[in-house]
Amino acid sequence: MYNVFVTRKLPGQGLERLRPLCNVTINPEDRNITKEELLAILPEQDALISMLSDPIDSEVIEAGSKLKVIANYAVGFNNIDVAAASKQDIVVCNTPVVLTNASADFAWALLMSTARRVVEGDAMTRSGQFTGWAPELLLGAEIYGKTLGIIGAGRIGQGVAKRAQGFDMRILYHNRHRLPYNVEKAYHMEYATLESVLKESDFVSLHCPLTPETKHMIGANELRAMKPTAILINTSRGPVIDETALVQALREGSIFGAGLDVFEDEPALKPGLAQLPNVVLAPHIASAAAETRSNMVEIVVDAVLAVLQGQSPQNAVNR
Ligand code: GLV
Ligand code: GLV
Repeated sequence: MYNVFVTRKLPGQGLERLRPLCNVTINPEDRNITKEELLAILPEQDALISMLSDPIDSEVIEAGSKLKVIANYAVGFNNIDVAAASKQDIVVCNTPVVLTNASADFAWALLMSTARRVVEGDAMTRSGQFTGWAPELLLGAEIYGKTLGIIGAGRIGQGVAKRAQGFDMRILYHNRHRLPYNVEKAYHMEYATLESVLKESDFVSLHCPLTPETKHMIGANELRAMKPTAILINTSRGPVIDETALVQALREGSIFGAGLDVFEDEPALKPGLAQLPNVVLAPHIASAAAETRSNMVEIVVDAVLAVLQGQSPQNAVNR
């Protein structure tokens, strides 16, 4: 029998498929595992199913002397030192594809609720401050026919562009690599420099991974380059934005608003962010659709079973 540790209770019964081959231990606490706890349990484990909030650094990986696979229950894997894992011949897997639609849907949920001030309106209505229809009550921004800027045009970025077809938007995108012509054509996406995307877009939505190159990619200068009417959406990773600079820009009104699912010091917010009326804040729930989260369990289980049985897993990020 192999030993598998799961750092957080997962939805559904998907982990049962591991049981014929593995002893499965699930973190019994209803909270994230600490680094000390990981260091203590890892020497006995053949496989680890980790969360994006688990710090799997080189010290943790070195403690996993029997470890063969780390399956991260997320598409992003910036919480794992992949180079250290590779050095120890540990396969690292993620859960792409199954969460593309839920994540793209949620970027749109944030975009629309920020543009049309849905959350402010909800608070006003609940608190009894809605005293009657008024011509200038909570004026927001139109979406139809506007320019959408997508930064990071992988599956999720493309999913956001696909959904924008119904709004007849002009779509600019910036990505490390230009997309194939057929993809650009299918979703009417125009390749542009980061500078042009920021300058010309009414909505800018971030879909890149967090890497040393993308950390603080959106800082004070980039925010200044955006239109004063623009809205910034982030469902990628918090540190892609310099959040302190964003608080400043939102306070000064140098952009109209922001919709954020991720934060630089998650779960903490930079000072002042929570007090701003022109942000919509979500607790990192872009993939949190019930079906999606169950499908993600199947994907991590497939990965663990494949590696333990000597097969190539589908979603290895270091192979
Ligand atoms: C969520 O943020 C993920 O990376 O899956
Ligand atoms: C995620 O699956 C992406 O490629 O954006």
